[in-house]
Amino acid sequence: MQSIIANDLGTPERKSGKSISLEVNGVQVTVPEGSSVMYAANVAGMKVPKLCATDNLEPFGSCRLCLVEIDGRRGYPASCTTPAEAGMKIRTESPKLADLRRGVMELYISDHPLDCLTCPANGHCELQDMAGVVGLREVRYGYDGKNHLHEQKDESNPYFTFDPSKCIVCSRCVRACEEVQGTFALTIDGRGFNSHISPGQMQPFIDSECVSCGACVQACPTSTLMEKSIYEMGQPDRTVTTTCAYCGVGCSFIAEIKGNSVVRMVPNKNGMANHGHSCVKGRFAFGYTTHPDRILKPMVRQSIDDRWKEVSWEEAIAHTASEFKRIQQKYGRSSVGAITSSRCTNEETFLVQKMVRAAFGNNNVDTCARVCHSPTGYGLKTTLGTSAGTQAFDSVMDADVIFIIGANPTDAHPVFASQMKRRLREGATLIVADPRAIDLIRTPPHIEASHHLQLRPGTNVALINGIAHVIVTEGLANDAYANERCEPQEYQTWKDFVSQPKYSPEAVEKITGVPADTIRGAARLYAKGPNSAIYYGLGVTEHSQGSTMVIGMANLSMATGNMGREGVGVNPLRGQNNVQGACDMGSFPHELSGYRHISDAKTRELFEKEWGVKLDAEPGLRIPNMFDAALDGSYKGMYIQGEDFVQSDPNTQHIEAALRNMECIVVQDLFLNETAKFAHVFLPGSTFLEKDGTYTNAERRIQLIRKAIPPVAGKADWEITMDLSNALGYPMQYDHPSQIMDEIARLTPTFAGVSFEKLDKLGSVQWPCNDSAPEGTPTMHIGKFVRGKGHFVLTEYVATDERTSSRFPLILTTGRILSQYNVGAQTRRTENVMWHEEDILEIHPHDAEHRGVIDGAWVSVASRAGEIVLRARVSERIQPGVVYTTFHHPDTGTNVITTENSDWATNCPEYKVTAVEVTPVSKLSVWQEHYREFTDQQEALLPGKMGS
Ligand code: SF4
Ligand code: SF4
Ligand code: SF4
Ligand code: FES
Repeated sequence: MQSIIANDLGTPERKSGKSISLEVNGVQVTVPEGSSVMYAANVAGMKVPKLCATDNLEPFGSCRLCLVEIDGRRGYPASCTTPAEAGMKIRTESPKLADLRRGVMELYISDHPLDCLTCPANGHCELQDMAGVVGLREVRYGYDGKNHLHEQKDESNPYFTFDPSKCIVCSRCVRACEEVQGTFALTIDGRGFNSHISPGQMQPFIDSECVSCGACVQACPTSTLMEKSIYEMGQPDRTVTTTCAYCGVGCSFIAEIKGNSVVRMVPNKNGMANHGHSCVKGRFAFGYTTHPDRILKPMVRQSIDDRWKEVSWEEAIAHTASEFKRIQQKYGRSSVGAITSSRCTNEETFLVQKMVRAAFGNNNVDTCARVCHSPTGYGLKTTLGTSAGTQAFDSVMDADVIFIIGANPTDAHPVFASQMKRRLREGATLIVADPRAIDLIRTPPHIEASHHLQLRPGTNVALINGIAHVIVTEGLANDAYANERCEPQEYQTWKDFVSQPKYSPEAVEKITGVPADTIRGAARLYAKGPNSAIYYGLGVTEHSQGSTMVIGMANLSMATGNMGREGVGVNPLRGQNNVQGACDMGSFPHELSGYRHISDAKTRELFEKEWGVKLDAEPGLRIPNMFDAALDGSYKGMYIQGEDFVQSDPNTQHIEAALRNMECIVVQDLFLNETAKFAHVFLPGSTFLEKDGTYTNAERRIQLIRKAIPPVAGKADWEITMDLSNALGYPMQYDHPSQIMDEIARLTPTFAGVSFEKLDKLGSVQWPCNDSAPEGTPTMHIGKFVRGKGHFVLTEYVATDERTSSRFPLILTTGRILSQYNVGAQTRRTENVMWHEEDILEIHPHDAEHRGVIDGAWVSVASRAGEIVLRARVSERIQPGVVYTTFHHPDTGTNVITTENSDWATNCPEYKVTAVEVTPVSKLSVWQEHYREFTDQQEALLPGKMGS
């Protein structure tokens, strides 16, 4: 395994247009101006001993191990904090330097436990390495003096320990928490010999501000901060580079493996999306992969009241194929379909849609992106020509104004949030539009949004029109840019449209609740830039006007010239790891891969030739249409790969009724999830550790996941789909997912240059990747928009049908929290559950008082669709008239109360606006009681359970 220190340049790489040349140990070296002497020495191939320096943190200069001699300078300056200068002559080795370094090490070691042989870091400890490097042979001061050896270990964090007796107070952890993570949870208390590291106000880690990102653990050169898994399992024996299976940031990791078990996940320094950082989910929450709840044998049953029967893979596949054939014979070709998941790889998703189109002979395939970012695809394609974000994450480092709309990056996209915070600390300004006070609005000590547009849920479009109104009527638009890059007449029509009095800040204040002056201030700031970037999330898309709002943001960006360079753009923050990929791969009922309409004869011809079948030109059913068709009896069979829509889709009771009306539901997943409780066939899926493939993150970055261990249930997911297709009579033959990617590349112009070989070589590429961009495209729309002229579309504000009334006077809006992920199937099966054991309803103190709701008490939340009961938290984070909760726990049933309202263009559900009433109660809702009974019944039907 590679040494941690081997590729560490000591101090960060500096960006400068100017280079300087100097000499290190007689070797000439050229480095960017601003580089440290240590950096220059490393570039020249000379390793200077060091402890407190590392190349992802600003130098601190505390350990005094990195001393060097510089011609013409007195003394022995620390190379990490000394800037390199042109013409310098540096010596990194001399008898005097060796002597000084040994002296420093002697002091460290005299206050360090001598338990190297039993220390979990043995062989991977920088202190140990440095003792060897400087040639320490004796410790003259002995070990009996004043020391820190008896300090107590803090084991309060579920994933790592803090053993102060081993701390050398190098402050790498403190700096990592500040500079990399941006949380400022750690401090150095005391001075000199008495100085020590303290989480918060001398608190245990778990009670401090710490968000368990692991950056301090990563930075620690000793075993002071150390993963518990290393204590338990020892050092790994091999590594595999892979990609996080959680959110759309797409962090790259080095999975450290021992036998067939993951010992730890180390964020990859070379990962282009994360640059060596991580969050608690990707870094630590991998325990679900070996959780005893995993189902490892295929199972079948006739009815959902029957016991599950374990069968062989052959039997399960043959049974499934025969059921689908029977259903199609009886109810027609369109009576079956499939749903793909944004948790699955590009290759798996591509195969499922291929199987539906080629083997089922229809286009009834949809993806869970339908219920999150389908408006992004529609809105950005309409205006700009590409259904994807415009920038790479790194682009934010050039943004002057960051405008976050309907997203909560510190919880949902934490590693990108850390990068954003870094830019904000450097001086960028922040505007946030969100009904709730998300953490980024005020994160002491350095971050404070200049404007929080705390709008009423459902009024996004009015707000964006109001902002556009200010920009246009105050002459702040970039007319020259918009007239050149877009159709001038269309642009003028849009300007006239937003200039109407009904979109004046005063008129918009009445709709949104955002003060007119705040709208003006935010608009002026965004227009002034000079580089203004929009980042948005599900708070934009999951509305009845989700697509309109995406268009509205693109209009604004084009009108102000904020498109087509670094630091600007319109950027969707994707929830799940492969939302972008699931959309790219043609798993919508109307589109083949690369967003080409199924009705287009030329595109169909291309696929027909490759696949050797005739394709149906008619778009198939979208997810909500599938449920409606199931209820009316025309849709009877469904193959679901990695998706749990019973928990994640709106109006749970409607979905449950639809599923009960079907004859063959096939769930391919890791656990008996909520959807699987209604299934007739269960095919055990594989985790990201058990297969090869690719994910595409929110910045269009395609990255490999690599098989670290064999599939525990025997088959990777792509193999299951392939087997099923073969059993259905449509032959598929792949030996490896790289061959599937080759097929995708042959059929998809934006992927034409993508191959596993290239991904292996480059680490990742951002599509489009083809002959004109062989190494990918970090920034889109440079020079001109992908569709040619940018397309301004008028965005009339139409209020949602979901209205408050005297019966349902509050608006419920939903979101996520850091420690949990989506439906929680993975994170609930890890220690992360300790941070969020249940979904909680946030309610403003006024609304709580009015209803007699006490903090921590049970409340009923009733909507037109249903009722649930959960615990209340009285909080000023949420505005009066609005309540907020998450949907991570199935027994809460948050989606029992969300409605079937959806985006006019894409049917993306309006999760963010549900009229509700909240009342204190003392028992569960009827649905929740039923849920518990049904879950008990279904679990008892599993093999090996009582009664089976
Ligand atoms: S905990 Fe580790 S990183 Fe932090 S000061 Fe101590 S030795 Fe350095
Ligand atoms: S785990 Fe992350 S947030 Fe917690 S103290 Fe370490 S760096 Fe800071
Ligand atoms: S930010 Fe997202 S991709 Fe990165 S480690 Fe966390 S969950 Fe994984
Ligand atoms: S590495 Fe330079 S002073 Fe510690």
